Parts: sequence; structure tokens; C-alpha cells
Amino acid sequence: MSTWTKSSWRQKPRIQMPEYTDAAALNAVEAQLSKYPPLVFAGEARSLKKQLAAASRGEAFLLQGGDCAESFEQFSADGIRDTFKVMLQMAMVLTYGAKVPVIKVGRMAGQFAKPRSAPTELKDGVELPSYRGDIINELAFTPEARIPDPKKMLQAYTQAAATLNLLRAFSKGGFADVHQVHSWTLGFTESDAAAAYRDLANRIADTLDFMKAAGLTAENNAELGSVDFYTSHEALLLEYEEALTRVDSTTGQQLAGSGHFIWIGDRTRQPDGAHVEFCSGVQNPIGLKCGPTTTADDLKVLMQKLNPENEAGRLTLIARFGAGSVGDHLPGLIKCVQEEGANVVWSCDAMHGNTIKSSSGYKTRPFESVRREVQEFFEIHRAEGTIPGGVHFEMTGADVTECTGGVRAVTDEDLSDRYHTACDPRLNASQSLELAFLISEELGRTGLNTKRKAG
Ligand code: PEP
Ligand code: CO
Repeated sequence: MSTWTKSSWRQKPRIQMPEYTDAAALNAVEAQLSKYPPLVFAGEARSLKKQLAAASRGEAFLLQGGDCAESFEQFSADGIRDTFKVMLQMAMVLTYGAKVPVIKVGRMAGQFAKPRSAPTELKDGVELPSYRGDIINELAFTPEARIPDPKKMLQAYTQAAATLNLLRAFSKGGFADVHQVHSWTLGFTESDAAAAYRDLANRIADTLDFMKAAGLTAENNAELGSVDFYTSHEALLLEYEEALTRVDSTTGQQLAGSGHFIWIGDRTRQPDGAHVEFCSGVQNPIGLKCGPTTTADDLKVLMQKLNPENEAGRLTLIARFGAGSVGDHLPGLIKCVQEEGANVVWSCDAMHGNTIKSSSGYKTRPFESVRREVQEFFEIHRAEGTIPGGVHFEMTGADVTECTGGVRAVTDEDLSDRYHTACDPRLNASQSLELAFLISEELGRTGLNTKRKAG
């Protein structure tokens, strides 16, 4: 790794990144960001890595979720609170099923840049550059809005800092105290999942009463009164990532200061490309999306580049094949991981392989496909005797209508009611919770913390 620097990615082929036309404006933004404080600290990234190492052994379970793309316009304290709240609820349900700690990682406080399947977008005979996320350009379909503007990186930084500030307050300031388990439901629309959650909350409250009687309270037991909540995003816009990279004074290693966990997308995982180069040299835990075109040979090279020391917790493989296709791809990649003796966390992104166009014209994901992909992921790990270490969702605490199905069935016709995403369709609060119960059942069946093979 001796040739790596935080700017060595610039010597590698890059894709999915904007061509900024005003070099002086870009340089000024990079210089400014380089002077700003990092958003996260190395010690936090190290504790997340330690927890992910536990997940790779079946001693913890990863829950990663949030917006497909954070938006400047929809930024609000309530939005952050509601997504945080649903993640706490999901984590509670999962902990109950898995009987291991659940690691909570938001797609938040930095998830702004988007890879696109086409460089341009065609609407009514007009062709414009694609929207690439609020950190790069604007969603409005006008030529001016689609010009990449480096100054948007400063706004993204500010929003990420404010988001993280609120998340830290929620995590440590009493909101996440497990004794609040009932109050997290307030404000949610009624659904079967909400009712099932209330039952579970009653059981947990009983247990807490018992623990209190036995002398265990939030006052004398920090774990009951607060949670660890981490942030993550796709490390796509490398100018932003580089500008926030800092040397960790305790280890002398480099840290991507933009978020605790960063991942490499399915479109930018070329072993000799810029994104793999950047991620290979920072000490954060790294995610790698694995899609239908990921071969075992690719994976071998990527694991070697991204985790040459085979450090547990460093690498999370995020499988996203699509319902009905997991069996065609996952077993081969699991075999490769085992042959290499590699330490990885296997996580299931049940969103990105299941995007379709609805009859009403909206980009959507049927809840049934999401559910099926999760089930296939668990079935395969059971068959292989390996560890399903986590899940990854695009979800929100808001009551949106973006994915179809679920117990409070959203239909194709409903999609237009509250379709707010700037990018991919997200599960709403009810769908997210419903899924958590399903995963909890799978985890109960799998028996995570019984002895299984690593990998
Ligand atoms: C995403 O996570 O938003 C994404 C674009 O995923 P993928 O790279 O797996 O397509
Ligand atoms: Co997405």
C-alpha cells in the first residue's frame, strides 16, 4: 500500500463522477472542505469495525438503512427523527429474534451522490445530463439545473453535520433509552406491524420492570439508556471524500472523515478503478456491493485489494441480486470467500435488484420481491452453513407510497399519492417494520449465535 495517498485515485480511471467545468471553483471548494472538521472520528470507526467483526462471527447483526438519496429540499428534523425511530424499532424486533446486538447504521449524513444507469435523461424529446444527487446537480429538468456545481459539496457537508448532530443527540440524549420502547410508536399510522410491535414492546417493558427490580436501570447501565448509531454512504464523489480525509493521530492511518462506513457501488467496483483505489487506503469499515455481474475472480481480487490483512469487520459484502436470482449468484461467491478464508460480513440489499416500472409509470419495488430476496439470502446461508450478517434497505420513517405491497397494501394507483423520493423507491415505516418481523423469524430459524462456519 506504499503508493497510496488520499489523491492517488486521480491516477485511475473514474466513472460516474461529474466533469466540473470550472476548475477554479472546484479547487476553492476542495480547499475549504479540507480545512473543515471531519464529521466522524477514528475511534468511532474503529468501534464500528469491532462490532462488524462480531457480525462476521454471528455474534451481532447489521441493520443498515435510510434514503436512497438525501435531499436538500426535504431536509428536516422530523424526517431524521422518524427514520431514526423506525430503525430503533426494527433493531428492537431484530434483537428479539437474533438474540444478538444489532448494529445500527444509517444511510444518512452524507448519502447524496448517485450513480446512474444512463448519463443522460430523455423527456418529451429533450435530452439533458442525468441528475446525480443534490451534492452534484439538481433534479429539476432544465439545462442549468443539471450543470454540476462544486459549491453543492459545501451545502452537503453542512447538512451532513447538522444531521449527525441531531443523530448524536437522539442516540445519547435519552430518546433512544430502551425504556422509551413504547413511545417510539407514537405518531405511526396503525398497521398490523405496528400492533405486533406494540405486543413486543409490552414484553420488553415487562422485562425492563423485572430488571429494574433486580437493580438494573438506565442510570447505572449506560447500554440501556443510549445507543450507538453510525452513518454511511456510497463513496462516489471522490473529490468530497478526499477533502474530508484526515490522518488519525493515534494510529497514523488515514480516515475518510465523511462518515463511519463507506461503500463501493455495483457500478464503480472496477478493481483498477478510482473508487476501489480510494477505499483501499482508508481505515474505515468498507462495503462492497455485489451484483449479478460480480464474478468470483473479481471478488478475489477486490478482497485482496480492500482487505489485504484479512481484518475482521473491515469488509462487508452487500449482495443485491434480485428476487429469484440469489441462488444463481450467492453460492458461488460464498464458495470464493471460503476458499480464500476471507473474513467478511454478508449483508443483503434487497432493494437494488428489485426495481421495476409500475403500470402507472413510477419506478417502484414490490414488497413481495424485497421479502423474497431476503428469504432466499437466509435460505442459502442456512444451506451453506454460513452466516447471514446483516440487511441493507432503502427506507424512511415517513408514510410514503413508493414501494407497492405490504399489509397496508400500496397499489400501483396509490404510488402517485406520496411519492417523494428523488431517486429510488423506499419502504415506508409500516413496510420496514413488517420486514423486520420477517427477518426476526428468519434469524430465529437460523440461530445466529450457534456455532457456524465463518464466511
Ligand atoms: C444504492 O445503494 O443506492 C445503489 C445505487 O446501489 P447499487 O450500487 O447496488 O446499485
Ligand atoms: Co438506491
